[in-house]
Amino acid sequence: MSKEKQQVSRRQFLNYSLMGVGGFMAAGLLVSPIRMAIDPVLKKSDSGDYANVGLSVDDITTEPQRVDWTIEQVDGWYESEPSKTAWVYKDDDGEIVALSPICTHLGCVVSWEGSEQYPEQFYCPCHDGRYEKDGTNIPGTPPLAPLAVYEQKVENGILFLGNAIDRKGA
Ligand code: FES
Repeated sequence: MSKEKQQVSRRQFLNYSLMGVGGFMAAGLLVSPIRMAIDPVLKKSDSGDYANVGLSVDDITTEPQRVDWTIEQVDGWYESEPSKTAWVYKDDDGEIVALSPICTHLGCVVSWEGSEQYPEQFYCPCHDGRYEKDGTNIPGTPPLAPLAVYEQKVENGILFLGNAIDRKGA
């Protein structure tokens, strides 16, 4: 009788042990997918935010200058810090203009006065695309739409840029 009782006790002990280890392993397996599903939703996203591009408004002239900065980007589980670029200047009314450097033809990078042949224009070296200073595409060159314009705001005299907004083609 006491031997049988002892065997049951061992069996119970084994069952509890296996259940405990199994439960621990199952919890470990479940935590990761649950965290993967919830964490990106709860995390603060930088998308749509304005970034301090480190440029004082006082330093912006009528000559387009290249400004580079990085943003924190979370894409699912992939976190990165892609770099961004804008061409920034003040127009004749003193308004700040921030243009995307991405050519609207096939996505190469344009430069202000990138060709000596075309002064006072943005130039794309890939297929000789050209844009006016305000980003308008020049008819007869490959791009069919103007350069995108960054959303912008000024805080404490510092320029902040947001998303680049596409413009309709001429
Ligand atoms: S990519 Fe700029 S002209 Fe083609």
